[in-house]
Amino acid sequence: MEQVVQPEVALKQHTIWQNGQTPEPCAVVIFGATGDLTQRKLLPTLAHMMHDHPLPQSFCIVAFARRPMTDEQWRAMALDSVNKFMAPGDKLDEKAQKAFAQNLFYCQSDFNDREGYQKLADLLERLDEEKGTRGNRLFYLATPPTTDSEIIHQLGGAGLARQQHNNGDEESWTRIIIEKPFGRDLVSAQKLNRELARVFRENQTYRIDHYMGKETVQNLLALRFANGIFEPLWNQKYIDHVQIVVAESLGIGTRAEYYEESGAIRDMVQNHIMQVLCLTAMEPPVAFDADAIRDEKVKVMRAIPALSQEQVASNTVRARYTAGVVDGESVPAYKEEKGVAPNSTTETYVALKLFIENWRWADVPFYIRTGKRLPARSTEVTIQFKRVPHQLYKPSETKGLVPNRLTIRIQPDEGITLKFGAKIPGAARQLESVDMDFSYAKAFGIISPEAYERLLADAMIGDSTLFIRRDEVEASWRIVDSIINGWKSMPADSVHTYPAGTWGPKEAEELIERDGREWDTP
Ligand SMILES: NC(=O)c1ccc[n+]([C@@H]2O[C@H](COP(=O)([O-])OP(=O)(O)OC[C@H]3O[C@@H](n4cnc5c(N)ncnc54)[C@H](OP(=O)(O)O)[C@@H]3O)[C@@H](O)[C@H]2O)c1
Repeated sequence: MEQVVQPEVALKQHTIWQNGQTPEPCAVVIFGATGDLTQRKLLPTLAHMMHDHPLPQSFCIVAFARRPMTDEQWRAMALDSVNKFMAPGDKLDEKAQKAFAQNLFYCQSDFNDREGYQKLADLLERLDEEKGTRGNRLFYLATPPTTDSEIIHQLGGAGLARQQHNNGDEESWTRIIIEKPFGRDLVSAQKLNRELARVFRENQTYRIDHYMGKETVQNLLALRFANGIFEPLWNQKYIDHVQIVVAESLGIGTRAEYYEESGAIRDMVQNHIMQVLCLTAMEPPVAFDADAIRDEKVKVMRAIPALSQEQVASNTVRARYTAGVVDGESVPAYKEEKGVAPNSTTETYVALKLFIENWRWADVPFYIRTGKRLPARSTEVTIQFKRVPHQLYKPSETKGLVPNRLTIRIQPDEGITLKFGAKIPGAARQLESVDMDFSYAKAFGIISPEAYERLLADAMIGDSTLFIRRDEVEASWRIVDSIINGWKSMPADSVHTYPAGTWGPKEAEELIERDGREWDTP
């Protein structure tokens, strides 16, 4: 077992290392180190890990970025971000800040400058000597997707992608984490996969979707496969339909350029929602390991047929927000946001109905909706069960009764609620729906680890279970492409509108009401 940094610091209540493992010494190399993701998420997460969890003593973070900066300037910039974005309860004192900063190094280069990669190789070798990182490297591409191919190619060219090489008498490893979006359609995702495969092996490649790092998303597996009572009911015999909602109250902030290109379908459906859908619908894996779980996820997506033009017209709704009020504040229309084209047809909202054509899910619709500027931030999966085959009670006695619903709250207020009918106390046979509620915070009294913390820790110990495999990305794009292609041949006015601060356009209500069902609004 490795020695740990600051062993006197008590562990936070949660643990991040699986089975007590700690990672081997390593250098984390961040491309795009001056960007939003690194400053807001990666640096605070790494600082938190270094302070509160036993990282190896030989550990460092190298920024590969184009702005001229010294190590000292980079350390000051990184500490600013850490102080600004770390959770209030996690703030580092001066000594801990100093300890963190000592492990930060800067390599200045443009992404397409070959010499920069040679400089990086030299620096990493020096750090192996001076810091004891033993040739282990974790490359993190927190970069605009347009630059990924170049970086991968250059890493290969500089000999930095070696899977394992002997470093004295030790074997070392190299891994690469790639941020979403992974491609912008099936063709570009396949191209990026091929480029990656020329340089890195699949077992070195960690495609990240931070939703998979959320405790509540992982708990879908525990709920389904570690309990005897749910799985027998988890099929078309007992389930009427499934809803997945990912609602955001925020708008696009300063990311208009990115969002105009992606829209809600690429930003949310292709990755986060597909992942949640797979975990909800997959068959029990044969083992809790990366390939067994990912095999089952791929099978789910393979059972979702590409949508025909007619199905896109009838089973999808896209929309864009107009001006409105969110959280008591007036907000502008999407088309008035800075950086959005006046003739934009980008959707900020999608509602969909999908079917998984297999034995378990035959004829069970999966309704999906996601949007920006909705009344609340909420991600939930709702399993709605079929009604009883014969109702003993009179309609007047069951007026307040909704069907049994199991709602898995992924964020915020993480937990699970089971809705069922109960008799109102008193002589009359009056029934009402009540909630049986489980709350993560109340049950465990533990602060859940940040999604990025979980995923960085897994990448460091070489566990790719929560990362996305090559065939998964492609299977997801095949479905999403069919929807985007269907939209392309539809008129511009098929992008509906909804006032900011509402739950979406009336067409989305109609999509589900046509089937005699209704959205389970958080
Ligand atoms: N931000 C988020 O919350 C978030 C969430 C999920 C996924 N992501 C994904 O993470 C990635 C990064 O997002 P971001 O928001 O951090 O982007 P960003 O703020 O635009 O940062 C991009 C970074 O790349 C650097 N860069 C761009 N071109 C370069 C070049 N030719 N040579 C050297 N450096 C170059 C920029 O350096 P300069 O500072 O010098 O321009 C900057 O550090 C994207 O793929 C995004 O989709 C982001």
